[in-house]
Amino acid sequence: MFPENVFPDTAEIDGEGRLVIGGCGAVDLAEEYGTPVYVLDEATLRNRCRSYRREFESRCPGAQVLYASKAYINPALARIINEEGLGLDVVSGGELAVADAVEFPLEKVYFHGNNKSREELAYAVERGIGRVVVDSFHEMAMLEEIAGEAGREQEILIRVSPGIDPHTHAYTTTGIIDSKFGFSIQTGDAGRAIRQGLGASHLKVKGLHFHLGSPIFELEPYAAATDLVLRFAAGFREEGLALEEFSPGGGFAIAYTREQEPPGIWEYAETIVGTLRATCEELGLAIPTLLIEPGRSIVGPAGVALYRIGAIKDIPGVRKYVSVDGGMGDNIRPALYQAEYEVVSAGKVNVDGRWDEEKVTIAGKYCESGDVLASDVMLPIVEAGDIIAIPAAGAYCPSMASNYNLNPRPAMALVGDGESRLIRRRESYGDMMICDL
Ligand code: LLP
Repeated sequence: MFPENVFPDTAEIDGEGRLVIGGCGAVDLAEEYGTPVYVLDEATLRNRCRSYRREFESRCPGAQVLYASKAYINPALARIINEEGLGLDVVSGGELAVADAVEFPLEKVYFHGNNKSREELAYAVERGIGRVVVDSFHEMAMLEEIAGEAGREQEILIRVSPGIDPHTHAYTTTGIIDSKFGFSIQTGDAGRAIRQGLGASHLKVKGLHFHLGSPIFELEPYAAATDLVLRFAAGFREEGLALEEFSPGGGFAIAYTREQEPPGIWEYAETIVGTLRATCEELGLAIPTLLIEPGRSIVGPAGVALYRIGAIKDIPGVRKYVSVDGGMGDNIRPALYQAEYEVVSAGKVNVDGRWDEEKVTIAGKYCESGDVLASDVMLPIVEAGDIIAIPAAGAYCPSMASNYNLNPRPAMALVGDGESRLIRRRESYGDMMICDL
């Protein structure tokens, strides 16, 4: 069975059992661009952007979808995001610089992060960034000073931590009390931050933000946190908090394996907007502008990573190690989060069982025993030179890629309508020494 649910919208299997994405043969793409290579399906990317806008804007007019750049950003992608009418969530001066480089409308950019530097904040203020999402008292004081020096009033959101557990990996859980992110509602810090923001001369508090974690397969945490944060906000009405904007962050799940069935975009929208409307009505609050920040769920399903098989080692009675020319340097997620992935043989997709299969473990080429991309997967009998495809690789694989062992980071090709083009070339050995003096 081909795990269609984890592949891009345009994925198909041709008559020879070969994987085709965006009308381009995966094995041909591997030949043309080399491996490892990330393939990004433009149709899936744009479909996801449009679905987010449609599902949220239709339920909550004026809602804004901000693409979370941390999932992956580069100039070509930023242009597509802009063409689709989304805003951006950035978390560093570097991500902001990409937006800046492609003349992304910076008033639609929101600057997140728990420890932004003075330089980053000054850069953001100077470039006229839309909002800074203030995450600490240290930042609040620094931003007030920077905005004052620049003679500007900087619009901000305040990131609160609602103390709600979204039941995801501990490393990607953020909205609980034991977290480095946000001002805790429970400890009173969130209240103090709101008062400080309202009292600041060069800051204007536009609203509140929270983010629970990622990926979140349940709807309930969004409903509970939305309700809790709105009630909390209502308590500051008399003190002058006009909740013009409300941001429940991102974290929307995608399927990585054939069994996973995350909620549809419409279900997240229904839950968040339904709660927003009901709670606002009960509290007599005007409905604020809703902001959401999907990253993974926009770019993740659009990406497929292609690798070439090299060494094969069979350890009888133990396992068969099949090594590929990439690994933890281009996908750290299995090593870091025990993430699981589907794997298919790009030239032998076994839709009709025409090939005999064997159980193999896909290892990377990095000098770590933990460098395993997928354990115990069934593939048609493998041979050195075969191309394998790992789907759902568009988010947090390229953006978290490293040069460990001084392996060049992969290229990325955008595909659609039978055409492909490089949107990032493979690094060269020279690139990896460019900063060395
Ligand atoms: N907004 C805020 C404030 C965030 O911190 C994040 C993710 C997002 C939006 C976007 O979440 P998404 O929609 O992409 O799930 N490296 C991890 C994920 C870390 C997410 C960090 N923050 C992974 O590979 O699973």
